[in-house]
Amino acid sequence: MDMRETITHTFLSPNRILFGIDAVKGVAAEVKQLGGRKVLIVTDPGVVEAGLVEAVKAPLDSDGIPFSLYDRVEPEPPVRIVEQCTQYLKDENCDLIIGVGGGSSLDVAKGASIMATNEGNLLSLCGVDLVPKRGLPKILIPTTAGTGSEVTRVFVITDEASNLKKAVYSIYALSDVAIVDPMMTLSMPPKVTADTGIDALVHAIETYVSVTATPFSDILAFEAIALIAENITMAFAKGENVEARYNMSLAATISGLAFSSGGLGAVHALSNPLGIEYHLPHGRTNAIMLPHVMAFNLIGNPTRFAQIAEAMGEEVEGLSPMEAAPLAVEAVKELLNQLKIPIQLRDYGIPEKDIPKLVEGGMKVSRLFVPNPRNLTQEDVDEVYRMAW
Ligand SMILES: [Fe+2]
Repeated sequence: MDMRETITHTFLSPNRILFGIDAVKGVAAEVKQLGGRKVLIVTDPGVVEAGLVEAVKAPLDSDGIPFSLYDRVEPEPPVRIVEQCTQYLKDENCDLIIGVGGGSSLDVAKGASIMATNEGNLLSLCGVDLVPKRGLPKILIPTTAGTGSEVTRVFVITDEASNLKKAVYSIYALSDVAIVDPMMTLSMPPKVTADTGIDALVHAIETYVSVTATPFSDILAFEAIALIAENITMAFAKGENVEARYNMSLAATISGLAFSSGGLGAVHALSNPLGIEYHLPHGRTNAIMLPHVMAFNLIGNPTRFAQIAEAMGEEVEGLSPMEAAPLAVEAVKELLNQLKIPIQLRDYGIPEKDIPKLVEGGMKVSRLFVPNPRNLTQEDVDEVYRMAW
């Protein structure tokens, strides 16, 4: 008997997930079911420019549902953007939010939904289960295959005063409806496809080896790893490959469901300062740290890493777990190489003398070391960054 068979596992998910080609056409029916009278669409200028908001507007228009548009979401969204969006929502008398975009737009939609019904400052709600009241109903529609924000109970904002990223974990951050339509991801450029797709892979790998993995997260994370390994290079090579996009959207959603209940790890911890210091996208910072943290973590759960190697298509038959585990790192490195993602910090112009600053930043996110399969001291963090440099 496994230790974890003695504890109660919680599985978190949105109330409904609509998944499939042209699923977005069902948005108006969902608004009606949720009782929305006026919708606020929350997005960023890039999504508007790509013409993707039209796919949401058209069904609303044909059902006569009024809406306003907030399209000023910034990457790594600062608190002031959530506040501005909330104010706009109140000025426009909207009672339902539709987030359309990558993680930033979906996270601002979550934040505005919560701030519309809760008093006080958003920063005071950062942490676990500190949101007192349910927010406005929200529908989240991703345009990347990546963050999984559409199905998770977390959103991340930037506190500009302290230059820190902070997270709100709350069941009220879960969407009422997630609409995952692979057609909404077709126009994603190759670089964004690679970065966001690897973020989803990191979610799945970190959850699969975490000490907080559950029987539910195992199934979802394992399947996500196999799907991403099989499809990400095809989506990168040819964005209009609908089958590859479909599988990547499915993988991102199920890896989001997996980590929402199962927990992340040291990749997300050590990638955090890279985003803050050098303004690299979240997915890219995770991609850089992934092989180095995996190599460090191998001895903490060789069996699971051997299974990851197998899921990624490595030949592991006849090998012991400890022999097979490093093949998972090799498979990840090969994938990153094919996606043209350099994995050394120096390739990004980051000077070696910055390592102490990164160590300090990484230690600030040490709460993510708890689910990680191997404990990290400050010296370990330094060692991993030096490997990455
Ligand atoms: Fe992530």
